[in-house]
Amino acid sequence: LEKLTLLYEGKAKQVYQTDNKDEYIVHYKDDATAFNGEKHDTILGKGVLNNKISSFFFELLKKEGVPTHFVRREDDRNQTVLTLDIVPLEVIVRNIAAGSMAKRFGIEEGTPLKHPILEFCYKNDELGDPFANESQITALGWATQEQLDVISTITLKVNDILKKFLATKNVTLVDFKLEFGTHNGEVLLGDEISPDTCRFWDATTGEKLDKDRFRRDLGNIEEAYKEMLFRLTGERA
Ligand code: C5P
Repeated sequence: LEKLTLLYEGKAKQVYQTDNKDEYIVHYKDDATAFNGEKHDTILGKGVLNNKISSFFFELLKKEGVPTHFVRREDDRNQTVLTLDIVPLEVIVRNIAAGSMAKRFGIEEGTPLKHPILEFCYKNDELGDPFANESQITALGWATQEQLDVISTITLKVNDILKKFLATKNVTLVDFKLEFGTHNGEVLLGDEISPDTCRFWDATTGEKLDKDRFRRDLGNIEEAYKEMLFRLTGERA
């Protein structure tokens, strides 16, 4: 597989066209942004860690029968994925109140929820990824009701698989964000699953092992990502 044109450059990744019309190569960068790009920094080695961590999660999900875009990890910074027509949504699952939800409702971070929450946001940087409900999403044509039903089912299944697996590594899955697209009409899980897109708390101490260390200037960002890679794979980065 050969990297050809750079198709898209995001905050943390680049997507390249390849000589196979069904496959892209995704390159993981060391850049980190937060608060919709207002805070920006480079975290040396983050791209390698996220590529490895996300590849690990996607392989786990594939084994459990979740339809994903993931083909294989190529090397430290690159993975091959199936081409997707993006569904312009950020799909968020919450098991414990934290982040924007805790703030919006004025509740303490760490407040348990009676059941997982599913939220949809319209993926649009200029607008700051605003909330969208199912009625708005189908009316505006961002996804059909059938696609939303598939997305919701896959998302809750991913939550079950990851929550259970992470519990065996003494990690609490607080919340996370997924993205989807279609390939030949089939809805597939896309993007990445990493400490950039999830909240991971040590189950014993509550220590944050994710991007909140960057967002909130808590320090030891790389160490936290390395710890996650170690707990998942046993690899010392
Ligand atoms: O900020 P908020 O509390 O809404 O984030 C919920 C979850 O979604 C967090 O795990 C966060 O890392 C993830 N997220 C993301 N990309 C965004 C917004 C949120 O990965 N643009």
